[in-house]
Amino acid sequence: MSFNRRNLLFSSTGAAAALSIAGQTLAQKSPAESIPPTPANTSSVPNNEKKINIVTLRDLEAEAQKVMAPFGFAYVSGGAGDEWTMRENMAAFDRWVINAEFMNGTGSADTSTTILGSKISYPVITAPMGNQGSVHAQGDIPNVKGAGTAGTLYCVSSVAQQSLEDIAAATDGPKWFQLYVPRDRGFARELLHRAKATGYKAIIITADVDVTSNRERSVRLQGAALPNLSMGNVPKTPGVTGNAMDMKGDMSWSDIDFARQESGLPVIIKSILSAKQARQALQGGVAAVWLSNHGGRQLDNSPAPTTMLPSVVAAVRGRVPVIIDGGILRGQDVFRALALGASVVAIGRPTLYGSALGGAEGVEAVHTHLKNELNMVMRLAGTPDVKSIKRDSVERAEAFLAVDIT
Ligand SMILES: Cc1cc2nc3c(=O)[nH]c(=O)nc-3n(C[C@H](O)[C@H](O)[C@H](O)COP(=O)(O)O)c2cc1C
Repeated sequence: MSFNRRNLLFSSTGAAAALSIAGQTLAQKSPAESIPPTPANTSSVPNNEKKINIVTLRDLEAEAQKVMAPFGFAYVSGGAGDEWTMRENMAAFDRWVINAEFMNGTGSADTSTTILGSKISYPVITAPMGNQGSVHAQGDIPNVKGAGTAGTLYCVSSVAQQSLEDIAAATDGPKWFQLYVPRDRGFARELLHRAKATGYKAIIITADVDVTSNRERSVRLQGAALPNLSMGNVPKTPGVTGNAMDMKGDMSWSDIDFARQESGLPVIIKSILSAKQARQALQGGVAAVWLSNHGGRQLDNSPAPTTMLPSVVAAVRGRVPVIIDGGILRGQDVFRALALGASVVAIGRPTLYGSALGGAEGVEAVHTHLKNELNMVMRLAGTPDVKSIKRDSVERAEAFLAVDIT
C-alpha cells in the first residue's frame, strides 16, 4: 500500500482502514490527488533549539500554536469527535484531592524511581508519538534528547520520521519501542528483531487503532500544506515489503504472543481502559498494563484513564506495573495518579509543545518543570520518596463537597 500522507491529518496513525468521515472515504484518496510532492507545497515546521521559560505546562499549547503551522497544531492538539474524552482526561484528576501533611519533617523529596528495570529521575516517561516531523524539523530527535538529558525514559513510535536505530543513537537514556503491528508479518518480525538488536528494553503494543478515528480539527484543514512525513522505518530485509503505516486492523491477544516471541523482550499493552481488559492482558502474559485513551484521539466518550485506574489497579493486584497517560499537566496530576496506584505516568503533548518551542532544550525544560512541581507536591504532602505516595495520600473530592465547614 502506498502511504497517503494526508491520512495523517485524520489519524495519529494513518491507519489504512477505509472509514467514511465528513462524507469522504479517506482510503480512496490517492497520494497524487491529495499532495503534489513539491517543496513549495510543504509547510514550514519549527526548527527551534533554545531555552524556554515555563510558568505552567498549561501555557505551552497557546505558546506552541504561535510557532507551529496550522496542520501540525491541529494534528497535535486535536482529539476525536466532540473531544469530550480529551477534556475529561484533565477533568478526571480534579475529582481527587491531595491530603496535605505539614510539620512532617520532610526536608527534601526524592522523585527517582525504577520502571521495568530502568532507573529514571522521576516517575514520568514520554509517551510514544508518531509523526513528530509535524512538530520539529528534526522529528523525534529533540524529544528523545530532552528526555535523556532529564534522566527519563522515551518511547519511540513505529511511525516516526527517523528509523528506530537513528532515534536510539541520539541518547544514552532508556527506551521502549512502540509497534503498530504492520499487516505484513515479515515486516512486523523485522521491526521487533531490530528493536531488540538496538537495545530497546521493552515493546509496547498499542491496541486502539483498528480504525481511523474522526479527528475533525484535521478534517477541516483539507487543503493545508503538509510537511514531509515519510516513514523512517522501512523494511531492510530482502523480500520484505511492508509499510509502517499499513497496520493490522484486527488486533487480538495473539499479537502480544507474537511480539514477545519475536523480540524476546517484555511486552506492554497500551490502551487498557477496564479491569476486564487488564485481566485479559495479564492472562496474555504482558509485563505491564498501560491505561490510555490515546490522549482522547481515538474513541471519544471513552472514560478517562484516571477514572478507571482504581479498578484496574485492583484487578492487577501488584503483579505488573501500571502505567497511565492522558491530560497530565501538573505535578499534582502525577502525584494523584501515583497515589491511585500507577507505577509511573506518561506525558505526550507537553513534550511536543516543548520541542516546537525550544527543541531538546524545550523538552528538557518541560521535564524539569514537571519534576520540580512534583517535588514540591511531595514535600507538601509529607511523602519523601515515590514509594511513600500511597492510596491514603488522596481522597475523593465529593467527600469534601459534603463537609459542613461552618
Ligand atoms: C501527535 C500525537 C501522536 C501520537 N502518536 C501515537 C503513536 O504513534 N503511538 C501511540 O501509541 N500513541 C500515540 N499517541 C498517543 C500518546 O502515546 C499518548 O497516549 C497521549 O498523547 C497522552 O495524552 P497527552 O497528550 O494528553 O499527554 C499520539 C499522541 C499525539 C498527541
